[in-house]
Amino acid sequence: MLTLLANAKINLYLEIIGSRPDGFHELVMVMQSVNLADRIDLKPLNTPTIRIICNHPQVPTDHTNLAYKAVSLIQKRFPSRTNQRGGVEITIDKKIPVGAGLAGGSANAAAVLFGLDMLWQLGLTRIGLQELGAELGSDVPFCLAGGCAIATGRGEEVDVLRKSPKLFAVLAKYESTSVSTPWAYQTYRAEFEHTYLNLDNFATLEERRSRIHAGKMVEAVSAQNAAKVGAQLHNDLEKVVLPAYPKVTQLKATMADIARDRGGLGTMMSGSGPTVFTLTDNLVQAGTIQREVRSHFNDPDLKVYVAPFATHGIVARP
Ligand code: C5P
Repeated sequence: MLTLLANAKINLYLEIIGSRPDGFHELVMVMQSVNLADRIDLKPLNTPTIRIICNHPQVPTDHTNLAYKAVSLIQKRFPSRTNQRGGVEITIDKKIPVGAGLAGGSANAAAVLFGLDMLWQLGLTRIGLQELGAELGSDVPFCLAGGCAIATGRGEEVDVLRKSPKLFAVLAKYESTSVSTPWAYQTYRAEFEHTYLNLDNFATLEERRSRIHAGKMVEAVSAQNAAKVGAQLHNDLEKVVLPAYPKVTQLKATMADIARDRGGLGTMMSGSGPTVFTLTDNLVQAGTIQREVRSHFNDPDLKVYVAPFATHGIVARP
């Protein structure tokens, strides 16, 4: 049996720059792992079964679960290694909110790839694992790498940044509200396609990419300048998600007000939402913001977490 911890991520920066021939969007993101982790137990089985057990009612336990797809992909790609070894039982202890913009499903799939490589001794390299991850979902390669990284392409091209500030995120999500990622991107396309770069013009794309690589957020992260990281938070998907979810707009405005009074550095929605986060460089302040957000709304459906920035995506527990 092998136990893994799979961290959630937040997007410090998410810019949509155009359409891709594969139907996805070309993105430029700065992603950060946070220490809010699902626990994944992998237990080898003697039969070729893939069994998923999860304590969260919204998580499917059939072949639609990304963790299930991760096992199928490994079985397909390494038939001679996996046939001798049978199947696997995956128990997911869910701590990462579901449908939240925190890459919970991708983190689970990343943990399964990482764990099966260990369990079945596949000898995959970090790049090999990330390539397999990219076949499962755009965020899986980042979830494998962890820490703080620039992610380009669909989000699957990951450049880890060596230095990043040690901050704390206060995360807030209405448990009963989820946003569909395909819906968020489709709606964005319908409204903003006229602003997309023509990606046939490679020079322009390269120019845009090089700008973010040297951009203000990357500069702020690399200089470990917490105030500048807070000031540079950006997420294009807010433009479509916030107008469609007034409660989330209200949550963001209130969190920003509370954080401003308590030394917070900036407030933004993560990924396709609806989780909103505020950054601070101080754990005590993070706790104060968490308490004040909770007591302001006084709504049992609103879950508020404090999660320190993490330097790893997946960790195997000894
Ligand atoms: O890759 P992943 O399965 O996480 O993507 C979910 C959906 O989000 C895609 O089916 C697509 O509709 C949208 N998406 C996109 N461009 C990206 C990433 C995701 O349009 N770069």
